[in-house]
Amino acid sequence: MNQNDDALDNDNVITNKSGNRPFADVLQAHLTRREVLIGGLAAGAAGFLPTAASARFGEDWQNYGSGRRHNRLIGFEPVPVAEGTGPEPAISADYQYDVLIPWGEPIEPDGPAFSWPPTAEDQAKQIGIGHDGMWFFPIDSKGPASGLLRNLRESTRGVLAINHEFGINTHVLGKDMPESLEDVRVSQHAHGVSVVEIARDKKGHWQTVKSDVARRIHVNTPMAFSGPVAGHALLQTPNGNIPLGTVNNCSSGPTPWNTYLTCEENFNGYFGATNQESEWEPTEEQQRYGFSSNGFGYGWHLFDRRFDLSDKDYRNEENRFGWVVEIDPFDASQTPVKRTALGRFKHEGATSVIGKDGRTVVYMGDDQSFDYIYKFVSADDWKRMRKQGKSPLDEGTLYVAKFNADGTGEWLELSMNNPVLAANFNDIGELLTYTRVAADLAGATPMDRPEWTTIDPNGMVYCTLTNNSARTEPNAANPLAPNRDGHIIRWMDSDKHTGLTFTWDIFLIAQTTHGTEDTFSDPDGIWADPDGRLFIETDGGQKDGLNNQLLVADTKTGELRRLFTGVTDDEITGLTVTPDRRTLFVNTQHPGNGDPSVTNFPAPIDGVTVPRDCTFVITRKNGGVVGS
Ligand code: FEO
Ligand code: CA
Ligand code: CA
Ligand code: CA
Repeated sequence: MNQNDDALDNDNVITNKSGNRPFADVLQAHLTRREVLIGGLAAGAAGFLPTAASARFGEDWQNYGSGRRHNRLIGFEPVPVAEGTGPEPAISADYQYDVLIPWGEPIEPDGPAFSWPPTAEDQAKQIGIGHDGMWFFPIDSKGPASGLLRNLRESTRGVLAINHEFGINTHVLGKDMPESLEDVRVSQHAHGVSVVEIARDKKGHWQTVKSDVARRIHVNTPMAFSGPVAGHALLQTPNGNIPLGTVNNCSSGPTPWNTYLTCEENFNGYFGATNQESEWEPTEEQQRYGFSSNGFGYGWHLFDRRFDLSDKDYRNEENRFGWVVEIDPFDASQTPVKRTALGRFKHEGATSVIGKDGRTVVYMGDDQSFDYIYKFVSADDWKRMRKQGKSPLDEGTLYVAKFNADGTGEWLELSMNNPVLAANFNDIGELLTYTRVAADLAGATPMDRPEWTTIDPNGMVYCTLTNNSARTEPNAANPLAPNRDGHIIRWMDSDKHTGLTFTWDIFLIAQTTHGTEDTFSDPDGIWADPDGRLFIETDGGQKDGLNNQLLVADTKTGELRRLFTGVTDDEITGLTVTPDRRTLFVNTQHPGNGDPSVTNFPAPIDGVTVPRDCTFVITRKNGGVVGS
């Protein structure tokens, strides 16, 4: 497999051998109980298909609603399937887009201009590649607005924090493998996070501006650990180097106190083994996290000892990745902090909400076939904890979801209070370092690759399950074995997000849209707006030649419309808005998989210029709320 295939397909590798009951079985039982199945014998070996309407909007939904008056939410002209193909983006006739911060653009206007391939020195001052999760933090004349409770007027200037998930060597370096440490540094500096200050000019165009807060955080940026695993032996390397860097930053989320959480996903792929000193064999724990001799083919380990699994001086380096990292977007001197209480797995995203008694709750997916959905609940009111000088993300409890067949669910505590876990781990630090193993032992429900989570105005949590082509067991009531196209699950937690039980339902099965103008596959990024719209982004092979896309669903009526499509072989990801919701930012990731013969976007078509990941600034032509 070449690096490209490995990097893109690794999520379908099964590292969970725990034998917990697959979510497919639970879904089947749940749907059967609720008699939403059609097809019966006619469906035969293919199993049963839930009806589109039932699968999308279960009858329990009415109970969740606030009973508010419901005006029509989606009024835009959708992008027809036939127009959403090819090397350039397409957008609704009622909308327009601009391009912002392409890969290689300087993070401040006077920085080094893009040239390809970049030097390591320049790349450390330029926007990274692999644009993914991001968040817009507004600024007004009085300074930073107050996070989730921000004033609605501050919508022309702000700090954009954006993840750079990955860039394949051919795209970044113009060659399959690095040939020197300098090449490795170019790749490492293209990863991580960019923090830029952006402002809208009088003509309505957004641009980066000179800023005190702009910075690049990458694979060699000093980091700190906090929470239960900080100081643990499993995070120490024998040669004593300080923790450095963040990698494969996938989705993200803001905290109630106005910081940015960036999530380390496929960190295993950057490690390999030269086997110069000794033959490296993965431990059981390393296998559970997918480490292998060649990783995804980045070749960093060939020139940078930190990433060589067989180099004993750097033993445990791999345990320093797989965390959620907190970044202060308003303080360029802050050392990013890895919040270990949130567990170590292939973190897709981190969605915070203020729960009962002011406690912070963070929902998180672990994106791998048959992996899990998690939540963290802080020990106390977030304001009180911060007043005491504590981070609400350092003290609290991590839980993993178990979905029961009857539409209920349980949050299983991952701590030494659980006798099964206490019997298997020496301490909480070891447990959290191997969170996946703890969740296996606790009896969590293996899911079809959990990606993003979002919370709607009624408190319903939605999670995209992007696909699970690795599932081979066909199953009578579940036609999604293999689940090639994914679905979206939703749940309502007890006790305002802090309880140990929940009720759940299936919101949408992607396959039910096929053959219609609404067709989509592989839901990934999602965001619920305050009015009841659900923005859905895709990452995977779409039907009918469509590029990856952004759709908007009305969660009450089931209406679904395509707002935007990307370019050939890209992924559409990242979702954030200005407080007035007149400006929407989304990203194209890996356009053309970096191949200029496929697309040159955002450059005009010439067959030569390297395509560049970038952010789209999307606005309604009449200035309305985005999605309307
Ligand atoms: Fe980074 Fe699972 O997407
Ligand atoms: Ca994703
Ligand atoms: Ca994905
Ligand atoms: Ca991706």
